[in-house]
Amino acid sequence: MAVESSTLVRVEALTKEFYLDGETIRVLKAIDLEVAAGERLAICGESGAGKSTLLQIMGTLDKPTGGRVLHGGQDVFRWSVDRLAAWRNAHIGFVFQFHHLLPEFTALENVMIPAMIQGAGRKSAGERARRILERVGLENRLRHKPGELSGGEQQRVALARALVLNPPLILADEPTGNLDLKNSLEVENLLLEFNREFDLALVIVTHSQRLAQRMDKIIYLEDGSVRKVCPQ
Ligand SMILES: Nc1ncnc2c1ncn2[C@@H]1O[C@H](COP(=O)(O)OP(=O)(O)O)[C@@H](O)[C@H]1O
Ligand SMILES: [Mg+2]
Repeated sequence: MAVESSTLVRVEALTKEFYLDGETIRVLKAIDLEVAAGERLAICGESGAGKSTLLQIMGTLDKPTGGRVLHGGQDVFRWSVDRLAAWRNAHIGFVFQFHHLLPEFTALENVMIPAMIQGAGRKSAGERARRILERVGLENRLRHKPGELSGGEQQRVALARALVLNPPLILADEPTGNLDLKNSLEVENLLLEFNREFDLALVIVTHSQRLAQRMDKIIYLEDGSVRKVCPQ
């Protein structure tokens, strides 16, 4: 099947099974979906529906049991582990419900890491990190460690880390699930600003109807299958 040039991610007949105590658990059942460049997609559904598993596989952090995941038309699971890791670092920004920042490092150092993995020197990595931290309103928190930041600030550092290399795709798993309304709105607004300014595609797993409604499209997962897509 031809892949449109604007298609950023294409998931084809994706299945995922886990094997536990001699039992097969079918977590994803033949999922098909597409994300265009700059598109905003929400993935909703009850706990255990398979949302996080789908996001992990779209992000190449876990492998499918069957089917394919194409990024820019490329079957990325065919690549070597090293090539895939380097590509993932540059092309996908991840945001999780809990920030997953390194506790011993400052906000600035945490945000420098993706550039340093790419081989950038400390000076240029530091400049990039500082710029994006200013952009998310944390210019006065550069030297703070995660434990010295509020929950909302920690999540904005995590957002800065996800955005620092200007990836075409952000995958966020309940990014506001641990935040109050004010901080949720700050994180949401930042995600949407970057979406508009940089044609950044967003795939967001969320229980928030408000956040889901701010996306172009909502996919409802139920028991490992797509139950409904809005708008159709
Ligand atoms: N590593 C694993 N081993 C076995 N079962 C798993 C594993 N990861 C997830 N599951 C199961 O897959 C189902 C979907 O999990 P998940 O994708 O985390 O759902 P959601 O994010 O929608 O709450 C759940 O029943 C969960 O127990
Ligand atoms: Mg989940």
